[in-house]
Amino acid sequence: MIKRPKLSGTGKERKTNASGLTRGGKFRVKNSRGRKISSVRWLQRQLNDPYVDAARLDGYRARSAYKLLELDEKFSFLKKSRVIVDLGAAPGSWTQVALKLCGRKARVVGIDLLEIAPLEGATFLEMDFATDEAEATLLDLCRGPVDLVMSDMAAATTGHQQTDHIRTLALVEIAFDFARKTLGEGGVFVTKVFRGGADQEMLAQIRKCFTSVRHFKPPASRSGSAETYLVAKGFKVSSRHLEKESD
Ligand SMILES: C[S@@+](CC[C@H](N)C(=O)[O-])C[C@H]1O[C@@H](n2cnc3c(N)ncnc32)[C@H](O)[C@@H]1O
Repeated sequence: MIKRPKLSGTGKERKTNASGLTRGGKFRVKNSRGRKISSVRWLQRQLNDPYVDAARLDGYRARSAYKLLELDEKFSFLKKSRVIVDLGAAPGSWTQVALKLCGRKARVVGIDLLEIAPLEGATFLEMDFATDEAEATLLDLCRGPVDLVMSDMAAATTGHQQTDHIRTLALVEIAFDFARKTLGEGGVFVTKVFRGGADQEMLAQIRKCFTSVRHFKPPASRSGSAETYLVAKGFKVSSRHLEKESD
């Protein structure tokens, strides 16, 4: 059972009034002059978000740690995993959760465009996952079948809906491709997807490769966000062989 932050709390217990914060009750950004409306909203949301508080108290680098904890609470895949690949790993909170729940025997290899501060038990690559070089380096580091490929990758948005949709789908596709190449029998693939789930064609392909495929939006994922997660369990190594033949 994970420690879930109290969602009804309004941060009354916090005393700081730095940066124009009000004391007690809901935090409001008082002095917003010179800030863009979007950054004021972002700041206000962060200050009133119980997951942000909980992450600070629990020592996680980001609130997204709770998304993985909630996904694992529902689908139980972390404890059995020994070799884990974390795609889009910065700043490292999913890796922190994996290392905590999987124990000392686990090995996590993470990759991101951004630099990630080191964590004991993890190897981080600062590379673009979409390049052949990144895939080759990851394959080298994994040394053998992978138990869990998890992707929280999100492309920077352009504001152009169609472009953003295509870029996001492309990330899911390369993550799935990598999972298909590297997972061992019974392996698990977890990926962030947008707007109601994976694209139908890709979903059909994923279904062929796993015994169970489910979509789930963990409570820690903001209701206003279009993201949701796909959890595919029970990888069939035989499907990797078939897919390769028909590609
Ligand atoms: C939501 S954040 C991941 C948060 C992370 N799961 C955590 O809990 O700390 C998404 C990350 O995906 C990374 N990303 C997006 N495209 C990528 C790519 N092509 N290769 C590697 N990382 C990528 C971004 O740099 C960003 O850090």
